[in-house]
Amino acid sequence: MAARKIIIDTDPGQDDAVAILLALASPAELDVLGITAVAGNVPLELTARNARMVCELAGKPETLVFAGCDRPLAHDLVTAEHVHGKTGLDGPDLPEPTMPLQDGDAVDFIIDTLRAQPEKTVTLCPLGPLTNIAAALQRAPDIAVRIQEIVLMGGAYFEVGNITPAAEFNIYVDPEAAEIVFKCGAPITVMPLDVTHKALVTTARNETFRTLGTPVGIAVAQMTDFFERFDREKYGSDGAPLHDPCVTAYLLQPDLFSGRFINVEIETRSDLTRGMTVADWWRVTDRAPNAMFMGDVDADGFFALLTERLARL
Ligand code: RIB
Ligand code: CA
Repeated sequence: MAARKIIIDTDPGQDDAVAILLALASPAELDVLGITAVAGNVPLELTARNARMVCELAGKPETLVFAGCDRPLAHDLVTAEHVHGKTGLDGPDLPEPTMPLQDGDAVDFIIDTLRAQPEKTVTLCPLGPLTNIAAALQRAPDIAVRIQEIVLMGGAYFEVGNITPAAEFNIYVDPEAAEIVFKCGAPITVMPLDVTHKALVTTARNETFRTLGTPVGIAVAQMTDFFERFDREKYGSDGAPLHDPCVTAYLLQPDLFSGRFINVEIETRSDLTRGMTVADWWRVTDRAPNAMFMGDVDADGFFALLTERLARL
């Protein structure tokens, strides 16, 4: 079976890094056509740098990496150095990238790729604010019907917010972009905090990464050592939630996840609840379902997959 063609849109971010590593470790199943950086956890210059550092850590310097939007559609950029550190990839001491950043704009790459590839054969995998994806849909509305699936990390329902009481970071940073994406009509699968908070890198799981003894295994363990302190302090959780790798793991082994096909709308008007994903989990409205909203994950299966794949790099 041919590898699934994907574009990873990302704001690395330690968890983005693990999601990218998992994808690059799985070439038989996933054909990474390109990686598009977006401003989010840290400014664009750093997310574009970090994405290339991760590709080189994976031994894949030939990967096409593009820089996209440097700020949300309608708000000033909100970043998350308090979670990811000043560089966005604090933890391991990785070398500066030597692979090139592609000359073209990430939004044009998304549009051009969707137009060039056969219809419904390219999956978009947003791991950060949805600015690049929304900008592509605004610039080229014709691409919406050409998208095979959008599998994104973002939002929350039962878990409520992690950047405000109401909103998850990716959606909060650019709610207008999220509204455009959730209304575009393409098939959407959502990995919200409800499921990612069940994918915790416990101490034991992180030691499994470290004892791989490879540069990738050690670097992932060091990323998690840094990244987990925020969630331990905030939630008292036993380790960091691996948010973004849930997207890649879904593409590789969808039966690890379960959820409901429901209506999800985005709050864009209220300052108090900006970026809230209003998920009709109990189907109390007659609003048409528009997203597969995940609620559960087989965490042991997820980590077994992740560990086995990271060991290949
Ligand atoms: O809220 C978690 C999400 O925000 C993750 O994608 C993390 O990398 C940050 O982008
Ligand atoms: Ca991210």
